[in-house]
Amino acid sequence: MAVTLKRDGDFAVLTLDRPEALNALSFAIIGQIGEALDAVAEDRTARALLITGAGDKAFCAGADIKELRSRSLVDQKRGAELGQRVFAKLDDLPIASVALVNGYAFGGGMELALACTFRLASANAKFGLPEVKLGLIPGYGGTQRLPRLVGEGRALEMILSGRTVDAGEAERMNLVNKLIEDDLLEAGKAFASTFTRYSLPVLNFARRAVQRAHDLPLHEGLRVEAELSTLAYRTADAEEGMEAFEQKRKPEFRDA
Ligand code: HXC
Repeated sequence: MAVTLKRDGDFAVLTLDRPEALNALSFAIIGQIGEALDAVAEDRTARALLITGAGDKAFCAGADIKELRSRSLVDQKRGAELGQRVFAKLDDLPIASVALVNGYAFGGGMELALACTFRLASANAKFGLPEVKLGLIPGYGGTQRLPRLVGEGRALEMILSGRTVDAGEAERMNLVNKLIEDDLLEAGKAFASTFTRYSLPVLNFARRAVQRAHDLPLHEGLRVEAELSTLAYRTADAEEGMEAFEQKRKPEFRDA
C-alpha cells in the first residue's frame, strides 16, 4: 500500500508512502486516499485527521506525470473528476483535517493540502502549482481553492507562473496556518488539540457554516449560520457548556 492509515491517540494519521517518487499521486494512490478517507469517516473515535508524506523530501510532488502521459483525453477528464471527488471527501469528513507539509507540495500535492481544513508547514516546505510548465493547468481543485484561500491576485500569480513559494512566503500569504520548526507530527497533534477537546458535532456545524461562506451571497450565508447555530444550541453539549460556565467548572462534552 502506498497510503497508510494509522491511529495515534485521538488522531488518524494518513501517510502518502511512495518516497521513491516523492509521493506522487497515481490513479491507484488517489483511490487509496479515497478508501482511507471513507474509513476515517466511518471511524467515530478519531477526533482529527493528520495527512503527511513519507520521507524528508516531499509531502507530495503532484500527479504522477509518467502516468498522466499514458492517459487518453477521456481518462484525463475522469482522472480530474476522481481527484476532485476524493479531495472533496475531506470537506465532508465529520472531523477536521490538517496537512503536515514536510517538503515539496506541488501540483496535486498542493491541491491535497488546499483541500484540508488546515495546513502546517516545516521550514523546508515548498509549495507550487507548476502545471503550466508541463503545458497543463491544475485539475484537482487548485484553481478553485487557492483563490478562496489567498485571493485571486496571488492565486493567479502562482498558477500562471508556476512559481515555487517557500514556507515563509506561504505563511505570509495565508497559504499555511503555521510554520513549524520542530517535529511536524508532534506539532500537528498539538495544533489539533486546540480544538479536539470541544464537541465534535458543534465543531462540524462551525466548519459547515464557514464552508458555505464561499458559495453563498452574504444574506443566504447568514441564514445558514442562523440554522446551524440553532442546531448547535439544541445539542446536549451546548446545555453542558453553558451550565458549566454558570457553575464555574470545566464542561464535559459528550459529542452529543
Ligand atoms: C512522477 C515524480 C514526480 C511526479 C518526482 N517524481 N515528481 N514521478 N510524477 N509528479 C520522481 C522523479 O521522476 C524521480 O524518479 C524521483 O521522483 C525523485 O525526483 P527528482 O526529480 O529526482 O528529485 P529532485 O531533483 O529533488 O526534484 C524534486 C522536484 C521534481 C522539484 C519536486 O521532482 C519535480 O519537479 N517534480 C514534478 C513536480 C510537478 O510538476 N508536479 C505537478 C504534476 S501535474 P526517478 O525514477 O527518476 O528517480 C499535477 C496536476 C495535474 O499534479 C492535473 C491533473 C488533472
